This record gives sequence, structure tokens and C-alpha cells, in this order.
Amino acid sequence: MLKRTHTCGELRPKDSGKEVILCGWVNTTRDHGGLIFIDLRDRYGITQIVFDQSACGDFYEKAKKLGFEDVIGIKGIVRKRPEESINENLATGEIEVLVKELEIFNESKPLPFMVTDRSSGLENLRLKYRYLDLRTREMQRNIYLRHKAAQTVREYYNSQGFYEIETPFLMKSTPEGARDFLVPSRIHRGKFYALPQSPQMFKQILMIAGFDKYYQIVRCFRDEDLRADRQPEFTQIDVEMSFVDENDVMTSTEEMLRKVFKNTIGVELEEKFPVLTYDEAIKRYGSDSPDIRFGLELKDVSKVFLESDFNIFKKAVADGGFVAGLCSPAMDYLTRMEIDRLTEQVKNWGGKGLAWGRITEKGFEGGISKFVEGIKEKLIDIFAAKPGNVMFFIADKDYRAFELLGMLRSRLGENLNLIKTDSFKCIWVTNFPLLEWDEEEQRYKAMHHPFTAPVAEDIELLETEPARVRSRAYDIVINGVEIGGGSIRNHRVDIQKKLFKVLGISEEEAERKFGFLLEALSYGAPPHGGIALGFDRLIMLLAGEESIREVIAFPKTKNALSLMDGSPSEVSEEQLKELGIKITKY
Ligand code: AMO
Ligand code: AMP
Repeated sequence: MLKRTHTCGELRPKDSGKEVILCGWVNTTRDHGGLIFIDLRDRYGITQIVFDQSACGDFYEKAKKLGFEDVIGIKGIVRKRPEESINENLATGEIEVLVKELEIFNESKPLPFMVTDRSSGLENLRLKYRYLDLRTREMQRNIYLRHKAAQTVREYYNSQGFYEIETPFLMKSTPEGARDFLVPSRIHRGKFYALPQSPQMFKQILMIAGFDKYYQIVRCFRDEDLRADRQPEFTQIDVEMSFVDENDVMTSTEEMLRKVFKNTIGVELEEKFPVLTYDEAIKRYGSDSPDIRFGLELKDVSKVFLESDFNIFKKAVADGGFVAGLCSPAMDYLTRMEIDRLTEQVKNWGGKGLAWGRITEKGFEGGISKFVEGIKEKLIDIFAAKPGNVMFFIADKDYRAFELLGMLRSRLGENLNLIKTDSFKCIWVTNFPLLEWDEEEQRYKAMHHPFTAPVAEDIELLETEPARVRSRAYDIVINGVEIGGGSIRNHRVDIQKKLFKVLGISEEEAERKFGFLLEALSYGAPPHGGIALGFDRLIMLLAGEESIREVIAFPKTKNALSLMDGSPSEVSEEQLKELGIKITKY
């Protein structure tokens, strides 16, 4: 077998005259009658090889038949290309290899799509033949980015004295809020392991065990509805630290992210990421994961509208709701027809309407102007509005007005091209509410997870006004994508138990589900906290992709199918019998 002396990305003019062996895939072939040019490809690059009929004798006929994605090895002599044939787009573009010997390792069947042109295959076809898709330039780059990022993460945490510790995949169910994937036990029939939604409880127990600084690049499993940024199995950079506060976790996470961005795509992130409280994020951007690459900030104009004649809004505020406002440039774009379209959009999102007004040389005009006579100047002042601007307002209950207007803000940001797509803006969002009310189940749920500590001065509100208790949780958001979240934990068992009570988890249930953690907390648990970052989402951002499927070697479809291996699939009667499982109707 021909064994390569060089890769397909390596040869340069200084190698001219050398005899070399290259191995790789046939990327393209061009037959010039008597001369065949083939671009030979491997992970490192592409090298042009030349079969000259007069020089290569009996294997010329074989070379003629070579097709896309055949795997071959060749021995040949490196030579400089004539000036006019130099390919500046190729690292090896100044040379070519004149073939002296050809070995065909394997031929490829006709391809379902072109490896040289990803757009020639729809996604499902590419997922079915993922090995071909992974050969494309785009996927080779994304997988490399992912590798490089993972190594940088490890280098960073290792340099800071963290231990990488593995935690079990077969475990008791953890409460991260999604559904568990279950694994039936053969040895203990009728019992199940759960695959971890995250290593949350184990990493806390590692702190109790005295390991102090832990990290792991770890797979997590959640049976939830999928989206472009959600997969049933995904990867976290999981971190936990002892004797720390929010600042320590946030600072080390920033340092790690700065290294990753620098090492992978050469981007320098800000020295210190801005911090918004949850309240500020909602009131200024209408989202707890705001994209701050552009302005168009919202304002709370509830009080102003109380002085107006706009009864719908006055009533909304009197009922405890809010009026959110936003001032947009580009009146030319925001024609009556466009505003009607946006109004429909807001209604589709569940809003009741969209109030608006134009700012002209004469002041606030059109839309709701007749209802806001007394407050026009005030509105113009608040937004520092200029002629050519259009103002939008939404009233609704709770924070809904901000959320709806926040969605409009994102839509306008895109439509008006306000987003600098090649920039990266990282922010922290802190002080989330500890609990959120679940309408369906008529009870409080932990907004992050039930091990998150309340802000100390809010602890006394736990029993009286739980909705007002703030948590010591923090999220990291990059370009509007929630990249990670974490918190300082309850290291005292009494507070943890109190919290379970507020969450409507009975002592018996707490004992059954988390007994081992509660027990561990009572043997000298240090104050501790941590964070987990969605590694796939991070790579998606680094790669400039829209879906995490583009940065996972073997992802599932939106329907949670693996098209390549055909899972999930039926199993044999034999297997089911061993597990004591009977399939009823489905
Ligand atoms: P959380 O549930 O917020 O926190 O998850 C952390 C980060 O993981 C990513 N993520 C996902 N990525 C892809 N597909 C999914 N289905 C998916 N679900 C979550 C997100 C998210 O921000 N144990 C806690 C962390 C802690 O408190 O330390 C946890 O798992 O980017
Ligand atoms: P109406 O007097 O009902 O025609 O409403 C006047 C304007 O206010 C219309 O443009 C509606 O879309 C808008 N509107 C009504 N309710 C709301 C609301 N809750 N928030 C924002 N705009 C609203």
C-alpha cells in the first residue's frame, strides 16, 4: 500500500523535484485529452495531481475512470506550475504533482449530493449520509473549530487548578425542568436509571467531597421539544467551585470565553462583560437573553400614559400592567402597510395591538396621536425622538408588554439591518426571580433549578411573597443567545428544605428524589456555586451558524431522529423480555 509522505495541504514550491506520496479523495477531475488533472483532497487541503498519458503508461486508462470521492494513493514528482496556472485560492496552488504510480484504495458509488457543494443536498439527505456531509469544507471547519474550542477550555481550566472529573450517565433523575430519558434496568426489573439532564447534583456533591474546583465537558440528555438550538443530547462545559461568590464564577467564565474566542476565531472579547439585572433586561430589551448588538431600547412609559386620554392604556396600567415604548428610525420603511403587517405580527404573538405615531417637523402625528394630545412633548423628550422616527407602544399585563415589544425590537433590528453580524456582544443577566408561577400546575417552580440560593436579604420573603424573591443565578448571553447559566447554591440544608416547601415538594418527596443530596449537605457542605455553558451553542456562534446541528458531528433531526443509523428503532422481543417490558399500544 502506498503510504503518504505528505498531506494534501502541505507541498510548496520549495518541494519541487521531490518524489512524494499523497493519499486522499478525488475532489474534482478534468480530462484535457492526454492530460488529466485531479484535485486530490484530504483534511489538510487540496493538491492538484496530473496524469500525463505520455509519462504514465498503463494506468492512464484507470485514471481516466476515476470519479468523485474515489480514494486513491499516488506517487509522483512535485513541480512548479507554469505562471498562468497558479491558483491563488489554494495554499498548494503554486505546485502540482506529476503522477508516476497510482493505487486505487476504493471506489465510491455515485454520490447522493456533491461533497464540493453542500447546497446540492437537502439537510435530511445530508444527515442520512453524514459521513459525506462531514467531508465538506464547511463541516471540516466546524468540527475543527469545535475541537480547538474544547482544547482551549481544557487548557484554561487546567491552568487554573480545576480537576476534570467524570460523573455517571446512569443515575437517578435530576430536576432541570425537562423530561428524562429513561434506561430500564435488567438486573432490577421494573426499575429505571435516568440519563442526566446535567451533572448538577453530582457536581455539588463533588464540592462537598472537597474537590474545590471541578469542570467537565459533558453530554447532557433532555427529552424536550427540539429547535434549532436544542438537541436531545447536547454538550455542556460544566463548572463548579467552592468558597466563591457570583463574581468569582463570572470572572473565570469571562476569562475562559476570552481565550476560546481568541484561540478559535481570533476575536478579542471585551475586558469586562456588562451586567444587567433581569428587571433591566426585560424593561430595556424585552427579553432575558437580549441581543445588545443594536440599540432600539424599550422604555417604560406606563406613568406617562396615565396622564393621557388613551383609555385602553390607562386601564392596562391601572390594572397593574405596563406600557412599553420604542422609537425607531426609518419612517420611509415603516409605511402604513408595513405598520399594519407588524401589528398583525404582534397579534400573532398574542398581543392585543400595536399603537404607533410618527414624528415629523410638526411633532407626534398619525396613529394614536389624537389620544395623546397632552403627553406628546413628554414622549418626544423621553425618546429624544427626531423627525423621521416612528414610535411604537404596547400595553399588557405583567411584563408581557415588554416581551412583545422586545420581539418587535428584534424584528425591526433585522429588517432595518441594524445588527452588526460579525460582532460579538456578551452580557450577564443576574438576579432572576427565584421562582415563577406555573399556571398549568398552579404552583411555583424554580426558574433556574431548585438548588439555586435566594439573595440573602430576600430569604424572609420566601414564605410571604415568594414571587418577589430574587435568586443568585446568572446567565451568560452572547448576541441574544443564552449560552449558559448558573448560580450560587444552597449549601445549608435548612434553606434548601425551606425552598422545597415553597416549591410544593413534600418532605417525603424531597427525601425520595433528593435525599442523597440533602444528606450530603448535612455533612459539612462548603459554600459553592457554578455554571454550565451550552458548548454546541457556543460553537454555533463561533462558526457563524444558525443551528447547532451544523456543529455536532452526528446530530438528530428536529424530530429527534438519527437518520444515519436509523434510531430510535424497535428492539427484539428477546431484549424486551429480559427487561420485563411489554409494549402496549402506541
Ligand atoms: P441550564 O439548564 O441553563 O443549566 O443549561 C445550561 C446551558 O446548556 C444549554 N442547553 C442546551 N443546548 C442544546 N440543547 C439543549 N436541549 C439544551 N438545554 C440547555 C444552554 C444553557 O444555557 N445544571 C445547570 C447549570 C448550573 O446551574 O450550573 C444547567 O444545566 O446554552
Ligand atoms: P382602537 O381604539 O381599539 O382602534 O385602538 C387604537 C390603537 O391602539 C390601534 O392601533 C390598536 O392596535 C392599538 N392597541 C389596542 N390595544 C393595544 C394594546 N394593548 N397595546 C398596544 N396597542 C394597542
